[in-house]
Formats: sequence, structure tokens, C-alpha cells
Amino acid sequence: MASNKKVITIPYHPRPFQKRLHNSLRRFNVVVAHRRFGKTWFALSEMIDRAFRNPLRNPQYAYIAPNYGQAKRVAWDILKDFLKVFGKSVEFFERELRADVTLGDKRYRFILMSAENPDAARGMYLDGAVLDEFADQPKEMWTKIVRPMLSDRNGWVIFISTPKGRNAFWEVYDYAKNQMLEDPNSSWFCALYTIEDTKILPEEEIAQLKKDMLDEEFRQEYMCDFDVALANAIYSKEIAQAHEEGRITNVPYDQNVPVSLSFDIGMDDATAVWFWQIAGKEIHFIDYYETQGKGFPEIVKDLKAYPYVYDFVYLPHDAKVRELGTGLSRLESFENLNLVKRGNVIVVDKVDPIDGIHLVKKIFNKFWFDERRCYKGLDLLKMYQREFDPMKGVYKKQPKHDKSSHAADSLRYFAVAYYRHLRTIRQEDRILEVETDYDIWSV
Ligand SMILES: Nc1ncnc2c1ncn2[C@@H]1O[C@H](COP(=O)(O)OP(=O)(O)OP(=O)(O)O)[C@@H](O)[C@H]1O
Ligand SMILES: [Mg+2]
Repeated sequence: MASNKKVITIPYHPRPFQKRLHNSLRRFNVVVAHRRFGKTWFALSEMIDRAFRNPLRNPQYAYIAPNYGQAKRVAWDILKDFLKVFGKSVEFFERELRADVTLGDKRYRFILMSAENPDAARGMYLDGAVLDEFADQPKEMWTKIVRPMLSDRNGWVIFISTPKGRNAFWEVYDYAKNQMLEDPNSSWFCALYTIEDTKILPEEEIAQLKKDMLDEEFRQEYMCDFDVALANAIYSKEIAQAHEEGRITNVPYDQNVPVSLSFDIGMDDATAVWFWQIAGKEIHFIDYYETQGKGFPEIVKDLKAYPYVYDFVYLPHDAKVRELGTGLSRLESFENLNLVKRGNVIVVDKVDPIDGIHLVKKIFNKFWFDERRCYKGLDLLKMYQREFDPMKGVYKKQPKHDKSSHAADSLRYFAVAYYRHLRTIRQEDRILEVETDYDIWSV
């Protein structure tokens, strides 16, 4: 049968794994693949292929890299190379990193963008988007910018990256995985390819890479491991050491010692609580609790259901602020719920977060965690990381605020309490042994 369709061939012949991916895609796609897999080639060629099959008027696509330099360096030449088969019909706008192909009265537009300047994209519609190296992009790039732009024209997306810890890329990958498990017809698709799956590089090159790279780097970049201790993870070294020294293990509740609690309180956000006991020079974290959207009465009810006898409760420094509505401070509201004796609810001093982190690091070698009951808290602590500054390409000193912050903040308040309050507490008629040579204000 005669067809009026014209075949245009771009200089790209998919490798077997790329081909398999092209054939598997759905509307929302998350691809985790090792370095040099051919991610960028794959994603740009898919974008072009879909564009010229798109029956809608003036299709428009965006390729988004973490920063402008990367977009230009990594994708611009490839895009130009792929599109130059259109000869006079294609126009390249070097400064905007934009290519327009005009065929008859239809215009196909391809724009390279950077996640550094997301607002530049607001208001546009997109038929499809590629978020390359998404592990280095802020989550909002997807949730606030790209996702709404896809709505008008039922647009699609491909997230493609190597992992970088359990950040937004991991979240979207995990989400896609669950969607696929729950519903075989889900509009989400995900895939993960390690170098052992693809064997794209020769054996000798892989062996050489293993020699040249840190073990963690190889696991992250070539084995697509999301759980590698990263340079930007704040407590990775301390947690790894605790693992090595067997301090993350079965840590039973000692019924002869009361349990104290360190809180991070979130009213709209999560509330996190570490349960701890002092055992000589050791600090035993025996449990962890986290909840979202509950008020104090419900939280205290939950805490009373645990089989522990409580001693002290430590609340964050802002607990003294009076709440609108009740006129009571959080401290007073908490005291009124009688979880512990009056006077045993203590508000910890305000300490700069960076100083607090130093305090935690300083005493981390005394910490023991119950592996099972503290699993969630520890998992969150592993994810606690510094904020990335995409403009400078470095990690800031300040921690990033995300879902791991609550576990980390409550532990920080524990550390402040340890230095500032615990020295005066008597337990079994014995003054606790604490370091006294440390001035937190000098950190
Ligand atoms: N289908 C293909 N045919 C021929 N060469 C390819 C193909 N796909 C990728 N390549 C080659 O492999 C190299 C890596 O491709 P690409 O840049 O797309 O990989 P990547 O996974 O994005 O890498 P990185 O992790 O470094 O960003 C490119 O230099 C390209 O020349
Ligand atoms: Mg790439």
C-alpha cells in the first residue's frame, strides 16, 4: 500500500539495550543506567523520533540538564548532529540552544534547558521532556516545572541518570517501580542497567576502572547503587563506622534504666523521636518514631503504647513559643499530657545546625542503634545530605531540608542536650560521665 509518509534517518543506530528501552517506554519513564551506557544519545533520539510522529500542531520538546554548561557540552552537538539531515529545514539558535525544524506549515521545536534557571521555562507547553542526570537536579524541576507543562498535550517524560544516593531520582525510580508492580498497565516504566548487564565496555576496561576508581564510585557510577556512602552524605562515615564496629545490632531495652526521648516537632511537617538510654559510656538508641500530621495528644497516645518507662523528654528550642489559638507554648501543651513528670520536659538550647552536626559527629562513636527498631531512623540519617549548589557545582555547608531532616534534627537536639543538660542529671545516684572539655560554641 502506498504511504505518503517519508522516512528520515538520523545518524543513530540503537545498541541492543537502547533498542530494548525504546520499545518499552510508556508515558512516564525512569531509566537508571551506568556511565557511558548511551543515555544521552538514547534520550535525544527518542525525543526526535517521537516529535516527527506527533500529529499535533507545532510539537515542542525540552532536554533538561543540571546546568547550562552541561546542556551545551553534552547534548547540543549530538542534537545538531541528529538534526542536520533536515538540511535547510532546520535552524539552530546557538545562544538559546534551540533547534527549529519547519516542514510545510508545521514547526518542530527542541530546546535545551538548564535546571539552574527553571523559571525560564514556566508557561510553555511540552509534548515531551528529557531530564538528563536528574540525580543532580532539584526535585521541583519535575514537580513544579516540567510536570504541569506536560498536561496540555498529554506529554511524556524520560528521567535518565546514574544514581546519587537516595535523593529525588531515587524517589521517582522507586515510585515508578511500585507503580509497575501494582498495575501492569501503569503509565510508569522504569529500568536499571549496570555494566554487568550491558557489558558495553571491554573486560579489561572494566578491570582498569575498578583500579582507578574508589570502590564507592564504581558501585555508584557503574553498578547503579543508590546506597553508596556519598561525599555529600553528612553522616555516611559515622554510620559506616558504627556498622563496622557492630554498634548497629540488637540493642535490647534495659528495664532498669528509664528511657528518654529527643524530639523534632513538625506541626505540618513530620515529627521525629529518638528513644535512648544511657549505658555507662554508651548511648543506646533503642527505638525511633516518626509521624506526619498528628498533634501532641495523638503522638503522646502513640508513645504511651510503647512498653517503655519514660524519664526525660527533650523538645526543640522553639517549643517555648506560644501558639496562636491555645495561647500555650508547645512545652506547656506537652507537659499537660503527662507523658513524663512535670519538670522533666526540657527545651534544648538553640545551636546553629552546623555546630549541632559537629556535636553529633563528635559523640557518634558512643552511639549504639537497635538495628530493627531504628531501621527507619537510620535509613533517613544515611540520606541526610548537604545542599548542592548547581551554580557553583559544589555542596554547600548547610544541610538540605528534605524528608531525612527530621531524623537528623532530633538526633542533633539529642547531642545538644547531651552537652548542655545531661551533666546535671542523676541516674541511679551516679552522675553521668560526660566529656567536659568540649566547648560547643567554639566548633
Ligand atoms: N547507538 C549508539 N551507536 C554508537 N555509539 C553510541 C550509541 N549510543 C552511544 N554511543 C556512544 O557512546 C558514548 C556515550 O554515549 P552517551 O553520552 O549517550 O552515554 P551516557 O550514558 O549519557 O554517558 P554519561 O554517563 O557519561 O553521560 C558516546 O560518546 C557515543 O559516541
Ligand atoms: Mg549522558
